[in-house]
Amino acid sequence: MSTSVRSFAKINLGLKIGPLREDGFHELRTIYQTIALADVVRVDASKGVGLDIVCKDQRVPADESNTCWRVAERMLRWLKVRRKVRIAIEKRLPVQGGLGAASSNAVATMLALEKELKQPLPPEERLRIASEVGSDLPLFLVGGTVLGTGRGEQVYPLEDLPSLPCVVATPEVGVSTPAAFADWDKQWTKPAGAKLGDPKLTSQNGSDRMNTFSRTVYEWLSGRFTPTGVPSKGWDRAEALLLDLVRTGIENDFESVVFPKYPVIREVKRALERSGAKYVSLSGSGSAVYGLFASQEEADNAAKKLTENGIPAQATATLPRERYWKEMIG
Ligand code: C5P
Repeated sequence: MSTSVRSFAKINLGLKIGPLREDGFHELRTIYQTIALADVVRVDASKGVGLDIVCKDQRVPADESNTCWRVAERMLRWLKVRRKVRIAIEKRLPVQGGLGAASSNAVATMLALEKELKQPLPPEERLRIASEVGSDLPLFLVGGTVLGTGRGEQVYPLEDLPSLPCVVATPEVGVSTPAAFADWDKQWTKPAGAKLGDPKLTSQNGSDRMNTFSRTVYEWLSGRFTPTGVPSKGWDRAEALLLDLVRTGIENDFESVVFPKYPVIREVKRALERSGAKYVSLSGSGSAVYGLFASQEEADNAAKKLTENGIPAQATATLPRERYWKEMIG
């Protein structure tokens, strides 16, 4: 017997990078949103010892550097059980795409292995293992619309929004997240001759930018803020809420370092904008770019057109929390 779990992807509705911390991570503020695109992770635990990762995609490591491996190893150690664990990953999501695929695969492994072993972890242990393995894992223990703070690993469920049509375009380049953070640091490193107190250094790269993000999100949550003063026309309240949020200017900071390095990704953003999307953004550090659409039909047409023009794209929808959990284990 084995347990199969759908490992859904996420997009970032805005992402603000804050100061580099002493532990080498950057302080972050973001809103994660799960979407209906998924890999499938199948876990099998039998008598014996050892870990096996099976994946047809050569870019997925099959050793202890794999996030699934790291989660499974920590779980077995904490539960003090010995088993032969086989993890098969059916890849549909891009590798290094900014859609959190590796993190989601790892959380799917955790939930599947709990089932296989018939030993659920206490919630605090789930969260500890997830955040130890990576900053983007804990969001997948919540699902839906999630506020991320700290290095991204501190997660809080937000008001769950209904599903919104979405197109995810995946240019065929992989962006390394650590490299993107390093480029960000280079961009904001104090230039020779700059004085402490330089507004470029203090107000743009410091905590001010994150405070603005927090304030915007707070105002949005309080229902007081709309860019126009009125909810977006032609949308019901919940959809208007999501659009109002992304239009408040909580753009993704990674765009300013990723687009100059990979102009093709900027082109994909422009193509999505031309295809009628209401809002377009890079997800995480990329390379995936998503667009939010007014109707599923428009999203389907846009994805078809992009693909015809040589840009791989899929129409999907944002995945609210309840459906995230319901559809995870089919
Ligand atoms: O936590 P995760 O494994 O995803 O992080 C990978 C790398 O990305 C870190 O080693 C660090 O270089 C960078 N990172 C960062 N700030 C964050 C998250 C990740 O600098 N908030």
